[in-house]
Amino acid sequence: MAQEIMRREILESARKMPRLSGNTTHLLELISRSDYDIQEVIDLVRHDSTLTFRVLMMANSVAMSGIIQISSIDRAVLYLGSRIVVAIALKEAAPHFQGKKQGCCTPRLEELWAHDLRTAIASREVARASELEINTDMAFTAGLLHDFGKAVISEYLLDKSPDLQERIQDCFFVRSLEKERELLGTDHSRVGHIVAQSWGLPGSLEMCIRHHHEPLDAPKAYQPLVHIVHVGDFLARFSENGREDEFLQYSLDNGFQNFFRMSLDELAIISLRSDEEFNRVSRVF
Ligand SMILES: [Fe+2]
Ligand SMILES: [Fe+2]
Repeated sequence: MAQEIMRREILESARKMPRLSGNTTHLLELISRSDYDIQEVIDLVRHDSTLTFRVLMMANSVAMSGIIQISSIDRAVLYLGSRIVVAIALKEAAPHFQGKKQGCCTPRLEELWAHDLRTAIASREVARASELEINTDMAFTAGLLHDFGKAVISEYLLDKSPDLQERIQDCFFVRSLEKERELLGTDHSRVGHIVAQSWGLPGSLEMCIRHHHEPLDAPKAYQPLVHIVHVGDFLARFSENGREDEFLQYSLDNGFQNFFRMSLDELAIISLRSDEEFNRVSRVF
């Protein structure tokens, strides 16, 4: 009974999530088109003063050069790339990504953001290496949003018992959807899916959020991208767990081999490349 009440309350809070700003929604729609022009991203950023400030700050932090300053928004967007602009906009627009609220498990929201960023970077690298005709910026964005439901559930749990908070956070980190459903009557992929629907996100993002743990359940047309995010998620967890062989063996659904051939050695190289990029970018977020 308590589980049914929690399920209803969590789904209700997912439906009531504050909308993304018009500019952020527009940015997501823009990069979901495979033929978008970077100039459209520059124009969009230019018309948003907060985003302009953040993008310039980030570009200068990443460049870390006291000699050359990046002072124009054109150069900043070109330097960072659309995907990092999307990450800045989402972190700004979605309070759940910021982990500001206090609770016994609050620090873990920061870990969630780090995991999302790792997954985004790895998903983009997998998309590039797959040689599929996949929009790599979309793969990055889908990786960034794939576990959004966890942030919604974490916030819902803030006023619940520390014991329950700890148990759910443990489910998140050992990747147990079944256990989440057992405790809450729902799981983060379903919760994230409801948010994606209420935000009107592009279908490919919606499907990656919904099916990233069970990629073969996604509608056929979306399966290549969903599998890419599934592998990106796996690689992120692989890095977080210190690349243990045991971990490597059991948690990857090999269905991705139907869409792109990639050996474990190739995945290990992608993982190393993704770590380098993560270390470069994460320190300035
Ligand atoms: Fe997940
Ligand atoms: Fe994940």
